[in-house]
Amino acid sequence: MPLSASKAPRPPGLPIVGHIPQWTKDPVKLMTEAARYGDVVRLQLPGETYLLNHPDHVKRVLQDNHLNYEKGWVFDRIKPYWGESLLTAEGDHWRQQRRRVQPTFKREHTVDFAPTITRRTAEMLDRWQESAENGRELVLYNEMTQLALVIIGDVLFGVGLWKQVAEMAGAVQTALRVLKTRVAALLPLPLWIPTPQNRRFNRAMRTLNDGIARIMEENRRAEDGGRNFLKMLMEARDSETGERMSDKQLHEEAIGMLQQGHDTIGETLAWTWYLLSLHPEVERKLYAEVTRVLGDRVPVVDDLAQLKYANMVVQESLRIFPPVWIIPRDAIKDDEIGGHRIPAGSTVLLSPYLTHRHSAFWENPEGFDPERFLPDRSKGRPRYAYFPFGGGPRLCMGVDMAIMETLLIMVMVVQRYRLHLVSCHREEPECILDMIPRHGVRATLQKQARPAPP
Ligand code: HEM
Repeated sequence: MPLSASKAPRPPGLPIVGHIPQWTKDPVKLMTEAARYGDVVRLQLPGETYLLNHPDHVKRVLQDNHLNYEKGWVFDRIKPYWGESLLTAEGDHWRQQRRRVQPTFKREHTVDFAPTITRRTAEMLDRWQESAENGRELVLYNEMTQLALVIIGDVLFGVGLWKQVAEMAGAVQTALRVLKTRVAALLPLPLWIPTPQNRRFNRAMRTLNDGIARIMEENRRAEDGGRNFLKMLMEARDSETGERMSDKQLHEEAIGMLQQGHDTIGETLAWTWYLLSLHPEVERKLYAEVTRVLGDRVPVVDDLAQLKYANMVVQESLRIFPPVWIIPRDAIKDDEIGGHRIPAGSTVLLSPYLTHRHSAFWENPEGFDPERFLPDRSKGRPRYAYFPFGGGPRLCMGVDMAIMETLLIMVMVVQRYRLHLVSCHREEPECILDMIPRHGVRATLQKQARPAPP
C-alpha cells in the first residue's frame, strides 16, 4: 500500500449509531449527501463501509480487481431466500453453476420465449379493457410485477401462474420486506426463533418452496416435448466435469431465477410508466415510432432493433431508477481506490443510482432525456458510468432476456393505451432490496387515439 493512500472523508453522523438511522430511513438521501464529500467516502454503518461513486472505482471492483472482492455479509443475509444460487454463491461453487447455467441464457434460447411474452401481455391488455372503459385506477407496479411473474413462470417452468400469482407475489413481497430488516439489523435473530417477523418470513418461504417443488415435480413427470428453462437446467452439465445439478441446486436456482427474473422487470416497467406519464413529449415520440415500425401488429424480436427510441427510453429509465440501486462487496485484501485506503474486511458499496447521476458524466442528471443514449452523445462516456446490470464476471445473466421482455411489454402497452397518473400523484423510491416506487404508480388508462391517415 503506498504511503500516499489516505483515509477517505466521512460525512457527519450521530454519536455511536453513526449513519445507521439515516441509512435505514432513506439511503438514497444519505448517499446523495455523502457523495458531496467526494468519490470515495466512509459511512458509519455496521463494519467499515466505503461508498464509491466514480466509474473508474466501479470498474476496479467489478472488473479489474474483482478477485479481491467477494459478495460478503449482505449476500449472506439474503441466503435464507436465495440459497446458494448464482446470485449469492462464491468461488468454485459459483464458477461451476455459472458454467452450467450460462449456455441456457444464450440469445438463441432466450428469443424463443418472445411469443410467450407477447401472449401473456396480450392477456393482460384484454383484462385492462374493462378498467379503461370504467376509468378504474390501476396500481401499475402490481400489474407489471404480476405480469412479469406469470411470464417467468411460463418461461422457467412452462406453467401458467395467473391463478397463483397473487398468492406467490404476496409471499415474495413479505419475504423481501423481512429480509430488508434483517440486512439492516445489527444482529438479526436466527430464523428458528418464532418472533412474529420470523414466522411471517417462514410462512412466505413455505408458500414459495412448496409452489416450486410442486412445479418441479410436474415438470419431471411431464412427457411432452415442451421447452422451458427448468428442463434446460435439468439437462445442463458442467462443461468441465460433465456433472448435472443436484435437486437442491436446481430448487435454489429455480427460486433465485423466479425472483430475479420478475421483480426487476416489474420495477423497470413501473418506473418507465411513471417517467412517461410525467413526460408526454417522450411518450408521443415513442408512440410515433411504435406506430411507424409496427402499426397494430404484435411485435416480434426482429422488430426490436428498429425500435431505437424505445430502446433509449428503457435505457434512460434504468439510468434514473435502476432497480438494483446498490451492489455491495467485501474486500478480501487491502486495496487502494482513488488515492484512499480500502482495508481488508471492509465493505464497499457501488450504487448505480448514484453513479448514474454523477455530474462529471451526465448532463442534467435528473432530467428524463432518452436521447442522451444516442451514439453521438454517448461518445467518451466511460463504460461504468452506467451499470444497471452490474459488470465484470458477475454481470447479470438475464440481461438480454430483460431488455427483450421490457421492450416487448412496453411497446404492446403503448400500442393500446396512454397511462395517466392519478392527479397530484408523485412517486419516490423506496429501497426494499430493490428500488421500488413507494406508492405503486397509480394510473388510469386512455385508449390511444389512432393517428390520422396520411
Ligand atoms: C431489468 C431487469 C434486471 C436488472 C436491472 C438486473 C440487474 C442485475 C444486477 C445488477 C446483477 C449483479 C448483482 C451483483 O453483481 O451483485 C444481476 C445478477 C443476476 N441476474 Fe439480473 N437483472 C435483471 C433481470 C434478470 C433476469 C430477467 C434474470 C433471469 C431470468 C436475471 C438473472 C440474474 C442472475 C442469475 C444473476 C447472478 C449472476 C452471477 O452472479 O453470476 N436478471 N442482475
